[in-house]
Amino acid sequence: MPAFRQGELVLLTSLKGKKWLVEISDTTFSCHKGNVHLGDIEGKDEGDFVETHQGARLYLFRPTLADNILKLKRQTQIIYPKDLGTLLFYGDVAPGQRVLESGVGSGSLTLTLLRALGENGRLISVEKRPEFARLAARNVARFHGPNPPQHLIVNADIQHFSLREPVDRVFLDLPEPWSAVVAVGDLLKRGGLLVNFSTNVGQVQQTCCELTRNGFVVLSAFEMLKRNWMVDERRARPGDRMVGHSGFIVVAKKVSLEAPYASAAPAARRRQPDRV
Ligand SMILES: C[S@@+](CC[C@H](N)C(=O)[O-])C[C@H]1O[C@@H](n2cnc3c(N)ncnc32)[C@H](O)[C@@H]1O
Repeated sequence: MPAFRQGELVLLTSLKGKKWLVEISDTTFSCHKGNVHLGDIEGKDEGDFVETHQGARLYLFRPTLADNILKLKRQTQIIYPKDLGTLLFYGDVAPGQRVLESGVGSGSLTLTLLRALGENGRLISVEKRPEFARLAARNVARFHGPNPPQHLIVNADIQHFSLREPVDRVFLDLPEPWSAVVAVGDLLKRGGLLVNFSTNVGQVQQTCCELTRNGFVVLSAFEMLKRNWMVDERRARPGDRMVGHSGFIVVAKKVSLEAPYASAAPAARRRQPDRV
């Protein structure tokens, strides 16, 4: 890897694993370990360290996608790395696919999907609130460069959204995901997967029922728990604190409306769609 350059993001990491994401510039960074002149990082390599004026070592790492997501500028609840990895895997996301996501919020899932889809993939991100669409675009630009050609952010309501070509996968992270099922069901290829992330189990139940009424088979509904451990010469045991809950994941496959699970319930009301 090349040496660190002016303007690059670097993750300062203490020996105890405390991390600060900073931009290399001609300024001074301060924390409880002391002060560092950030310009001194230029020309150093990943894994080198700088010393604060109090003599503490701060290692220099290039931020991973997970580091960037944890330090994302945010105005909404975001999906965290533990669930992002799970969403990708159970959503069976692969390079080159065409994917639709809604809502976009601060863009943590957006960054993750863009990375997984690669340059030949296509991501269409639909967000109702213009200020969040702008924030997500800024967060994407910081990580993937401005306006990556494989990405489109649309400021629209997913319930009234339409596309010319169907997608391989749909990801939903909405307060009322069940109300988007009919609209996105029309946009997903037969055999395609819909993956929903919701914080409350009431949302999960209502969404699963709506899915089964509208041409989907619900494959699984689950949550992921992650427990960190403290490991050194003196101890190897679980940490004292743990994130007890983040959200539930539902994975559903689009089948034919004649599938055994699908009922004869009428499709939800539709309005004129936005076309992309
Ligand atoms: C929890 S945030 C999404 C967070 C995002 N997945 C992330 O990882 O950063 C939920 C978003 O859904 C958006 N939203 C709510 N209803 C919507 C709708 N009908 N159409 C499009 N976006 C919607 C909200 O404005 C909000 O930005």
